[in-house]
Amino acid sequence: MTDGRVLLIAGGSGSIGSAIAREALAQGWKVAVHGRSEDKVHAVVAGLSEQGTIDGFIADIWEDEAAETLVAEVAEHFGRIDAVIDCTATGPLGITGLFPDTSPETFTDFLDVSVGWFERLTHASYGFLAQEGGTIIAFVSDAGIHAARRQSLVGAARAATIGFIRNFAVEAAHDGIRAHAISPSYVAGTDTSRRRGTEFMSRIARRAGLGLPEPEDIAPIALFLCSDGARKITGQVISINGGMNA
Ligand SMILES: NC(=O)c1ccc[n+]([C@@H]2O[C@H](COP(=O)([O-])OP(=O)(O)OC[C@H]3O[C@@H](n4cnc5c(N)ncnc54)[C@H](OP(=O)(O)O)[C@@H]3O)[C@@H](O)[C@H]2O)c1
Repeated sequence: MTDGRVLLIAGGSGSIGSAIAREALAQGWKVAVHGRSEDKVHAVVAGLSEQGTIDGFIADIWEDEAAETLVAEVAEHFGRIDAVIDCTATGPLGITGLFPDTSPETFTDFLDVSVGWFERLTHASYGFLAQEGGTIIAFVSDAGIHAARRQSLVGAARAATIGFIRNFAVEAAHDGIRAHAISPSYVAGTDTSRRRGTEFMSRIARRAGLGLPEPEDIAPIALFLCSDGARKITGQVISINGGMNA
């Protein structure tokens, strides 16, 4: 039972975030969708508004106090926040590839999105999540767990997020807060997969015995982690990769 609980999806106007929004509404959550581009956020809200209570919130995460402002606006609007799922992404360009071809500037941004932004979002949400026992989830990548060529920078940033989540989870459990990371490898049917191209994605898909996940395969797992059914687990890193890594 979600009883009108409120879910904030940061980066919720993207491929995976919008699938989580759709599933959350179907499960009875009230949903706050965040993104940078007003058009994209409004498109998601307009597309889902008949399914339940959903509103959009615009914030560029590089602005000062973006996390505090976003969380305060959502709490003011809905009166509570019970779960936060962060799907914010900078995209793979400049951070995947052979190391000499990667970009230090892009890595700095990616590292900040992966750890700094998520830490700021966690800070801003903490008091709300502690009220009724809430959940916060970061999206990471299997490169943070499994070593692979072309993934040094993604692996470094995502391993840092995982380190934060696992240590934070042990501490925050005392305030009733649960924290997890969801770790895709490659996801079909996303803007990222479209940028990577059909040939690349078909080659990658052959490595996933169960087939590559799509955003709709990820959404129910994210929401299960936020549900009462998952009330006794925290600090977990859940890979969703179609059997590509184990
Ligand atoms: N898709 C994959 O294959 C894949 C694989 C492994 C891990 N992941 C991870 O899964 C998560 C979700 O991925 P996705 O495919 O759903 O990403 P996506 O479609 O690219 O969506 C990214 C979201 O982040 C927002 N965003 C980006 N920069 C922002 C900024 N400066 N300020 C505010 N919002 C900003 C975007 O809004 P705007 O568009 O308005 O900027 C959008 O809502 C990410 O952490 C990603 O790294 C994805």
